[in-house]
Amino acid sequence: MDNRKLIDKALEAMNYAYAPYSKFKVGAALITDGVVYTGCNIENSSFGATICAERCAISKAVSEGHKNIQKIAIVSSSGNFTPPCGICRQVMEEFMADGTVVLSTGKEIKEYTVRELLPAGFSAEDMKG
Ligand code: THU
Repeated sequence: MDNRKLIDKALEAMNYAYAPYSKFKVGAALITDGVVYTGCNIENSSFGATICAERCAISKAVSEGHKNIQKIAIVSSSGNFTPPCGICRQVMEEFMADGTVVLSTGKEIKEYTVRELLPAGFSAEDMKG
């Protein structure tokens, strides 16, 4: 799937964001095994319970059996590029270590590998004795 289509899915998902506290809406859309999953940020009055859009989409994919994600697109209501937070980068390391992250302002596009965004990341390999 091309970047534009994935970005449009992410923009659509952003409409479902539940962000009454930050007022900052985020949308994500990923492609895995030819299937698209979307996500939005879901905030909570106990702020630490907030789920980012990226982890929402990744959880939806993994919970339906897709553990090898190829690409994820991320957009936000700021209209600027929105890089994924550290926790989301770590979750990307788990399920899309060889994958691509597409950031978009809605118009412009920047593309990174997960490896670029999380160099020397921790993974299951590092737990081997
Ligand atoms: N947020 C995301 O959804 N993804 C990110 O990678 C950055 C942060 C959300 C979480 C929270 O609802 C709001 O943006 C402000 O941090």
